[in-house]
Amino acid sequence: MTQNAAPLCVTTGVNGRPELQERARQLADELDAVYYTREKRNIPEVLAATGANRVLVVTHTKLVLRERNTDFEYFFHPNLAMLRGYNVTRGWRDLYVEAAALQPGESVLDCTLGFAGEASLAALMVGELGTVVGLESVPELAAVTRDGVSRFELEPKVLEDAMRRIQVVTADYRDYLRQAPDSSFDLVYFDPFFDERLPGSENSVSPLALFGNSEPLDPASIHEARRVARRRVVIKHPRHEPLPPEIEALVMESVTGRKSRVVYKILPAIGLINVTSQRTS
Ligand SMILES: C[S@@+](CC[C@H](N)C(=O)[O-])C[C@H]1O[C@@H](n2cnc3c(N)ncnc32)[C@H](O)[C@@H]1O
Repeated sequence: MTQNAAPLCVTTGVNGRPELQERARQLADELDAVYYTREKRNIPEVLAATGANRVLVVTHTKLVLRERNTDFEYFFHPNLAMLRGYNVTRGWRDLYVEAAALQPGESVLDCTLGFAGEASLAALMVGELGTVVGLESVPELAAVTRDGVSRFELEPKVLEDAMRRIQVVTADYRDYLRQAPDSSFDLVYFDPFFDERLPGSENSVSPLALFGNSEPLDPASIHEARRVARRRVVIKHPRHEPLPPEIEALVMESVTGRKSRVVYKILPAIGLINVTSQRTS
């Protein structure tokens, strides 16, 4: 059972078939949420009847998240990942791929899974023998992404296969990292929502930003991440904003592009520094 910040209910599409009702009941149980039989009611009626702020709608193709008083819908669609994945398979430059520098068979902990876009690229790079674990702290978002990575069809097929291998874990990275053993993942990655909107996106709020955890990067967790990482920690950040000073001081390399609005900052793993200093002493 997980704890929900916003009261959540789970239902089906209008007149949902019995198997969808059963799936909605199961999800409600997993998410510690209320199940509601939809029949012909519209979403505002479902929210009013249950007193919930959010509703997860189970349809035969996907899970859809809606919130009281907004028209936004959130459902799984790895938009940009598909394009980026396609480019990577053609050998084109991708800033995340360059910063992560992953090898086949390596392991990745993506602390901010979201749509699993970058996690899909990671899974592509580490291949069938590698591991990608993605953490998402908002349980209903984790449910949408878990469902999406298990059945969304992607081209090229090699990217779809990679996406299927992502292990979606409902957890706050602050808790997960504290309990993770030293050097247990080759790469630990963070892509938090940015404090300020990037230029050009002032008028657009993505549905992921509406439903997601928008707390800023937690510096204490970056220190844990450097302990948990075997090779490096990567943080995605707006290009022209510094990280908190104590984290910025640890950055050993940055990867960005001429026109890119973001930068991927690379911090060494603590274990890596120890190995290097033993070799030089
Ligand atoms: C900017 S999005 C990440 C997008 C992702 N890189 C992608 O390619 O789809 C940030 C995500 O991290 C989640 N998140 C934020 N803080 C978190 C935390 N402390 N633990 C786990 N997930 C967190 C948010 O709910 C959101 O889904």
